[in-house]
Amino acid sequence: MQARTWLPIVLAAGEGTRMRSRLPKVLHVLGGRPLLGHVLAAVRAAGGAEAAVVIGPDHEPVAAAAREVFPSAAVFVQAERRGTAHAVLAARPAIERGFDDIVVAFGDTPLIRPETLARLRKSLAGGAAVVVLGFRPKDPAGYGRLVVHGHDLVAVREEKDATQAERAIGLCNAGLIAFSGRHALAILDRIGNANAKREFYLTDAVEIARTMGHTVAAIEAEEEGEVRGINTKAQLAGAEAELQQRLRAAALEAGVTMIAPETVHLAADTKLGAEVEIEPYVVFGPGVIVDDGAVIRSFSRLEGAHVGPGAIVGPFARLRPGALIGAGAHIGNFVEVKEAIIEAGAKANHLAYIGDARVGEGANLGAGTITCNYDGRDKHRTDIGKGAFIGSNSSLVAPVTIGDHAYVGSGSVITHDVPAGALALGRTRQVVKEGWAALLRALPPKRKKVPTAE
Ligand code: UD1
Ligand code: MG
Repeated sequence: MQARTWLPIVLAAGEGTRMRSRLPKVLHVLGGRPLLGHVLAAVRAAGGAEAAVVIGPDHEPVAAAAREVFPSAAVFVQAERRGTAHAVLAARPAIERGFDDIVVAFGDTPLIRPETLARLRKSLAGGAAVVVLGFRPKDPAGYGRLVVHGHDLVAVREEKDATQAERAIGLCNAGLIAFSGRHALAILDRIGNANAKREFYLTDAVEIARTMGHTVAAIEAEEEGEVRGINTKAQLAGAEAELQQRLRAAALEAGVTMIAPETVHLAADTKLGAEVEIEPYVVFGPGVIVDDGAVIRSFSRLEGAHVGPGAIVGPFARLRPGALIGAGAHIGNFVEVKEAIIEAGAKANHLAYIGDARVGEGANLGAGTITCNYDGRDKHRTDIGKGAFIGSNSSLVAPVTIGDHAYVGSGSVITHDVPAGALALGRTRQVVKEGWAALLRALPPKRKKVPTAE
């Protein structure tokens, strides 16, 4: 039997006024990834080969965010916000292409799991024309209620249109509704807007499908957190906590050592290898890979970085995008690395800035080493050869190359290339004045001037 085809439609046309932000709601970030990106990642994990995303007018950044996660996503603009059914119909050209299953998800419900999308589709495969995802929230206020008679779902009633008795129902609509592709348009086109909000409600599909003689089904989400919709910053923070719990549990399950996982903040795309150890209070921004056996010490922040096997990072390290830390390399306290390759076994153990650079294998950067990569207009590169030794408190003014096994004396400002194996000193020579301290003390009090070193 051929696999059933499916089209996920993600509704993301809302403004999200309650977020009190100019950013469209679905672009707010959870675990380093926009809300919409989470939904599309779940779609992809559920085997979705195509996706339609419905956005609001002037929301081009939302389309861009969708394509970042799902490059082939078809984007449709809903010119006017006239309800969830109206939004789905904005994707009519995609629906008309003909799919076995249509699954509607909300862009502001980011924690939906791929397994749940699969369960909705399974119910369609079982013969239902419409399948609704229900859940039992602690506080059902604001949700549509699932009106069930016996085993049959007969309607979804929006709160504003519900009777007192219907409002007492605990089983609510999570928002996800799946349609048999064969019947979807016939059902959707029959939905009207004769209700309290004058909106075209997707939920009316239930009653309409029943009057058309179709089978309608409801399934229940396993956990409330999964279908949590985000409307406010407080809900965003709540969802973040939920996501962090999931990510930490998965990392521990995979063998990562974290003695205080509740203090470690992961991103949705953080990749941690075998036997990685993460000390308390570490923050991962998006795009981080940590290879086997590496250790991330406390109070470090990593983003867009790749930490090689057995490397040690932190405590108090900052890895910014483009930081590639080689096998067994050490990045110590108060060291910042940006767009730089630190080759195997190289060390920068204290107080350094390494930006737009290569640090060769086994090189050692002393405390206070700075790559001066920016001249106020352009960025320039610093290339440090293998086995080089950079004395403490040196400024390497890029563009500059330090050859293999070369030495730079402490406190140098290096403005010219240093050949392999050479010693470069870029500082004033030390002057010693014997007995000068006694001279100073012998001066009468309230003097105008101290003797100079000359
Ligand atoms: C909806 C459901 C309700 C359910 C709840 C779950 C309907 C009619 N009601 O209500 O049963 O309990 O979600 O959270 O479906 N959207 C558009 N264009 C529109 C309208 C909405 O794209 O014209 C998008 C929104 O951006 C959002 C989603 O659809 O992502 C849901 O819209 P929202 O207004 O939040 O619906 P609710 O009133 O919460
Ligand atoms: Mg809502």
